[in-house]
Amino acid sequence: MTDPAERVLFDPDEMDAGAFYRVLNSVVVPRPIAWVCSRSADGVLNLAPHSFYTVACVSPPVVQFTSVGRKDSLRNVEATGEFTVSLAPEALFEQINATATDFPAGMSEAEECGVPLTAGERVGVPRVAGSPVAVECTLHSTVRLGDSTVVFGRVQLITVAASAVREGRPRIEHLQPLARLGGNEWSTIGEVREISRISYRRWSEDPSIGERLRRDSDGA
Ligand SMILES: Cc1cc2nc3c(=O)[nH]c(=O)nc-3n(C[C@H](O)[C@H](O)[C@H](O)COP(=O)(O)O)c2cc1C
Repeated sequence: MTDPAERVLFDPDEMDAGAFYRVLNSVVVPRPIAWVCSRSADGVLNLAPHSFYTVACVSPPVVQFTSVGRKDSLRNVEATGEFTVSLAPEALFEQINATATDFPAGMSEAEECGVPLTAGERVGVPRVAGSPVAVECTLHSTVRLGDSTVVFGRVQLITVAASAVREGRPRIEHLQPLARLGGNEWSTIGEVREISRISYRRWSEDPSIGERLRRDSDGA
């Protein structure tokens, strides 16, 4: 039987870069998937999923995705200064994966994979028509890190399907985003749990909160 305290160590200095990447990808999970649409200087539309994606700044609103290597999405964004990020919905699982195919630069993934696009409101790049959310961005900046480039996009507008918005907030049960895990694994949203943040004021007024947590962790 494996000792539960035993650890397997993965040291990037002692591993092949590809092998370490597979470990890293398996532990930074789940990752949201940015379905990035961009246009080349020649006008060819490009659509590709990027799971190295998150919010980079609140004010001004900035999102970021990472191009591992120099790919068409990165080249297009550098050339035109615009892109959209569509949320990757569960219903389009196979289409999202198919748009990661390494088509030549002159071919449009959206067209090849049967993913209808529709015009953006504020940028000259379309969004995925069948996705409930689009984040319309202009290029803020890029940062080169080793073999990768982080692209920062200044968010100009977010559009959400009206059916997915309740009391002013987009609702997870209507967004149904996919997430990326390690290997070829993906996940759906699963169980949604709610918990409110504990202020220190409440914490100090009610010692039972901390007592219960410490008691539970003793028994674990
Ligand atoms: C779910 C998923 C997530 C991906 N995430 C990334 C990513 O974060 N960065 C990246 O460079 N490639 C990522 N890829 C691979 C790219 O989508 C793939 O290389 C694609 O062909 C790039 O397209 P482009 O050359 O048209 O930009 C991902 C692929 C899949 C299926």
